[in-house]
Amino acid sequence: MSNPQSGGTPPPHADPPTPYRGPTRQQILALRNRYLTPALLTMYRDPLCLVRGKMQHVWDESGKQYLDAFGGIVTISVGHAHPRIVDAVRKQIATLAHTTTLYLHPAIGQYAKSLAEHFPDHSGLEVTYFTNSGSEANEIAIMMARLATGSFDILALRNAYHGGLQTTMGVTAQSTWKYPLPQGFGVHHAAPGYCYRCPFGLEYPSCDMRCARDVEDKIRFETSGQLACFIGEPIQGVGGVVDPPPEFFRIVYDIVRQHGGLCIADEVQTGWGRTGEHYWGFQNWDVVPDLVTMAKGIGNGAPLGACTTRREIAEPMAQRHHFNTFGGNPVSMVQGQATLEIIDDEGLQKNALIVGRHLKRRLEELKDRHPLIGDVRGKGLMLGVELVEDRASKTPATAATADVLESAKDRGLLLGKGGLEGHVLRITPPMCITTNDADFLADTLDHALQTATTQSHP
Ligand SMILES: Cc1ncc(COP(=O)(O)O)c(C=O)c1O
Repeated sequence: MSNPQSGGTPPPHADPPTPYRGPTRQQILALRNRYLTPALLTMYRDPLCLVRGKMQHVWDESGKQYLDAFGGIVTISVGHAHPRIVDAVRKQIATLAHTTTLYLHPAIGQYAKSLAEHFPDHSGLEVTYFTNSGSEANEIAIMMARLATGSFDILALRNAYHGGLQTTMGVTAQSTWKYPLPQGFGVHHAAPGYCYRCPFGLEYPSCDMRCARDVEDKIRFETSGQLACFIGEPIQGVGGVVDPPPEFFRIVYDIVRQHGGLCIADEVQTGWGRTGEHYWGFQNWDVVPDLVTMAKGIGNGAPLGACTTRREIAEPMAQRHHFNTFGGNPVSMVQGQATLEIIDDEGLQKNALIVGRHLKRRLEELKDRHPLIGDVRGKGLMLGVELVEDRASKTPATAATADVLESAKDRGLLLGKGGLEGHVLRITPPMCITTNDADFLADTLDHALQTATTQSHP
């Protein structure tokens, strides 16, 4: 039920940060406009300036508080300025900030061991290559798969996002994120398990998983029949929180393996307990990948990415020199280690399950009352709300989505946006949010949807 008392501003923080005294918002904007690449994106009609964060909250330069339900794009997993992370990073940076992997350091091996211990028993997922970002982790994973199989062709899914470098832009499959440049050599895109917009016009389960089975024909007709790998997000994030039917990945992985391909799970958004029931997104689908790529929530804000695989898959990379200056940096390593320990010690996966279930129920209630909502989906604290102009045509409600984001922001709630047409609200807060925060979020969204509906149909 909607609470008429809330939906105004978030309950004030018990321990708000000290007031900001830096350059004004106008000065910050002027610097950005003059000295930063015009390719940078901003959210909101008036770009928002955030200068402080504490756990699930952030503050702008005027001292206005927001519930951060986007988490710096699914990156703040345990909370802004978490004291244990601040402490660990402060100590490491004051001791030794950088050496490179040319030298031994305890943090990298210890962290790689902790990571290995978080993968399923007997998966063999044990050796890690550290990078600075998710794009790099995916580039490495694809290169390892090509080297290990001796094959070149890659299968990916339409509506995927895997990064912005040459290979990863190639496996990404949303025109909005692709430049008209050579990219994606050997990449083939199959249909995702996007039931709300089934490309075959079918309905689950009578569809007999046509989308997943179509992979066989993609391979037979578009490739040599031998694959290097398949790469897929367990739940497509940037594509608008698209979670497939339960059998989807099992069928795809089976077909890919019959054609000699390795399976890469891109866990950049879905890892670290975010999906609630499981620690890794792939576990929701009862598959075990051959390579797992990670970034974002792995380090709660550290420039940290990783690719973990089995030793025999990593081995062929040793035939040449390969190097990443900052990969495995001691500061990133202790930040990653602290993040992982906090997720375990503070029970954040369980919290993602409990608060996520409550929030999803609240969002489904909103769907009953707001025709603008076409679909509510996702797992744990990775939820999506797809907005449509009308439920029959399912025309993406892009303008209304922008209005909802604005109105929520004005009321102290930061949401994300995704989908090819920018018409899916993405909800991926730090995993420390409470049920009260979830209620504030749902009530605020209720108001924002009302406002957007009134604006488009006054
Ligand atoms: C699923 C997924 N993979 C890879 C990436 C690329 O990560 P990065 O921006 O750290 O390069 C992203 C970024 O949004 C992502 O969502």
